[in-house]
Amino acid sequence: MSQLFTPSPRSTDASGAPQDLASFPSLRGRSVFITGGGSGIGAAMVAAFAEQGARVAFVDVAREASEALSQQLADAGLERPWWRACDVRDIGALQTCIAEAATELGDFAVLVNNVASDDRHTLESVTPAYYDERMAINERPAFFAIQAVAPGMRKLGGGSVINLGSTGWQGKGTGYPCYAIAKSSVNGLTRGLAKTLGQDRIRINTVSPGWVMTERQIKLWLDAEGEKELARNQCLPDKLQPHDIARMVLFLASDDAAMCTAQEFKVDAGWV
Ligand SMILES: NC(=O)c1ccc[n+]([C@@H]2O[C@H](COP(=O)([O-])OP(=O)(O)OC[C@H]3O[C@@H](n4cnc5c(N)ncnc54)[C@H](O)[C@@H]3O)[C@@H](O)[C@H]2O)c1
Repeated sequence: MSQLFTPSPRSTDASGAPQDLASFPSLRGRSVFITGGGSGIGAAMVAAFAEQGARVAFVDVAREASEALSQQLADAGLERPWWRACDVRDIGALQTCIAEAATELGDFAVLVNNVASDDRHTLESVTPAYYDERMAINERPAFFAIQAVAPGMRKLGGGSVINLGSTGWQGKGTGYPCYAIAKSSVNGLTRGLAKTLGQDRIRINTVSPGWVMTERQIKLWLDAEGEKELARNQCLPDKLQPHDIARMVLFLASDDAAMCTAQEFKVDAGWV
């Protein structure tokens, strides 16, 4: 029986990914750039692409976690990912990293706009400066990363951009209105660029996770009420894990998804 239908706890390999799931030969040797790849869902995607034989580059502010991930993958016999400490609020620094990584790994066939910060705030507490800062992490980097990789993708004859959205705002989640605004804009980014990029066979899609059990989510927000909310809202009983999102992203990055563009793909266990 397929592992997909095995209830948790599911057997996993060294990187935490479920075993015996699909491999995508078209990803072998492809260069992939991921923002916020040092921990959480981003780290699962870095590992998942490395396992597929892709050449992975990522940026993150978390130096320790990024180095540990890089070492873990090298220890597992996989290609060590290229990574740099980079704060994506600095668009110039992000552009420099993309350019330097492309020089080392080759033009990027895949871009995953993953970085985000879901810090809590209230309607009353938000100042114009805080609002701008939230957009500088949660909205702006994706556009400029796409702008930076598009010429290389054109040269390659195509590419795949995957933007991480969220089902949180779609389920009317509270406590993070600025994050909700930024995340709702992801579908606009995807659909607003799909025709332009599509002329060069560059596909662009949104992947919207439900509530995924990253270390940060478990530490900060998974309390007794959270458990009840999961049980009330999800159609499936298992908790979403970072690799559940990575599997969808692998598919969209691969040639198996050759005619998928301008869409949103939800991985939320049926929450919204
Ligand atoms: N975890 C969830 O439940 C959930 C739900 C819906 C959507 N998402 C989306 O999935 C994506 C990944 O989420 P996650 O839960 O893994 O997030 P996370 O907060 O666990 O990880 C984000 C990563 O980005 C890095 N980062 C934060 N600010 C940065 C900055 N200014 N510059 C560079 N790096 C920075 C962090 O160090 C971290 O490694 C995000 O786009 C998020 O909106 C997550």
